[in-house]
Amino acid sequence: MYLTREEEKMYEGEFGEAVRISMEILVTLGDIYDADRLINISSAQVSGASYKTIGDAGLEYLEDMVKNSATTSVYTTLNPIGMDLKRWEELNIPSNFAKKQIKIVKAYQKMGVTLSCTCTPYFCGNIPTFKSHIAWSESSAVIYANSVLGARTNREGGPSALAAAICGKTPRYGYHLEENRNPNVLVEVKEKLNGIDYAVLGYLIGKEINDKIPYFKMLNRPDVDDLKNLGAALASAGAVALYHIEGVTPEYSLIDKNEFEDKITVTKKDLKAAKEELSTTNEKPEIVCIGCPHSSIQDIKKVAEIVANKKLNCDLWVCTSLSTKIMADRMGYTKIIEKSGGKILCDTCMVVTPIEDLGYKTIGVDSAKAAIYLPSNNLDVIFNDLNNLI
Ligand code: F3S
Repeated sequence: MYLTREEEKMYEGEFGEAVRISMEILVTLGDIYDADRLINISSAQVSGASYKTIGDAGLEYLEDMVKNSATTSVYTTLNPIGMDLKRWEELNIPSNFAKKQIKIVKAYQKMGVTLSCTCTPYFCGNIPTFKSHIAWSESSAVIYANSVLGARTNREGGPSALAAAICGKTPRYGYHLEENRNPNVLVEVKEKLNGIDYAVLGYLIGKEINDKIPYFKMLNRPDVDDLKNLGAALASAGAVALYHIEGVTPEYSLIDKNEFEDKITVTKKDLKAAKEELSTTNEKPEIVCIGCPHSSIQDIKKVAEIVANKKLNCDLWVCTSLSTKIMADRMGYTKIIEKSGGKILCDTCMVVTPIEDLGYKTIGVDSAKAAIYLPSNNLDVIFNDLNNLI
């Protein structure tokens, strides 16, 4: 891969050990994927923030980077961590876990990473412009950035996104190249979609096409929350990093639509069968968790409307970012939800917190992504919309 003179100096360690290690990661990636050169990025989103997922080895790596004076050189936001930074004791998060988690957060803070602790950075300030190059990890955020915002990113891992954030660069391959952004599967949806249908559709198509690029023709127009839920499901049931929707997403009219390899038609019956696959039990949930990806303020408003004047028979977590929670507080939604027995939690989610240690056996979710991941945490899942879960 071609490096400029300055990049060579970075690679050789003239800008310090953290930059050298980061350049080594980027150049290795570039060589593997046949990138011709590095390109400058405007922002990064770093995953690998929960102690549950990165463990002691991850913490040690981050602390070493801090010792080596690692600093981010572009705007960088952080994925959810393993607990609500304010309420972890109330939630019975083990104190040893909390201690390690706080060390991880401090390491990121020292590197200049904004402690957004959310997988929806695009709802709280990290909003790349159309066609800008970025290096994001967190598959649901990657697919949103590529598809809805029209930015360009590969599905980075935590270490490569951090390396890119430190160097301000990423190898030019994959979704950074215009020719790799054309769709290859036409998906015609013959049913009007509503609410969790978008997550079900993403699950159905993601497991069918793996890492291909779908081009959807839909009967109705999704809003931003629908797009977020569709993308998260596509990216977790498969490895989709980009989709287009006719008349909706920004690149649909610019791309070549002549050469579809495949065509899928989705009917009401297909959606019903896929929805059933997402539950592992018919039992009542002991806890219901909303907000995968993290809830927007509109999502929280809908929850408040549903639980207003109710006393819940199960626990309810609504997972979101701190900045959205502040807005929910101001709008009175938090008060309504907490009065019903629910909680609005920041910084974390049902998947990256050690939920399996909190004694729950059954969990209700309205997210296909959460329904895919949670069974590996020894939980039985009921997938449905909130109205039918509580
Ligand atoms: Fe976000 Fe956690 Fe779901 S990180 S996408 S809420 S698994």
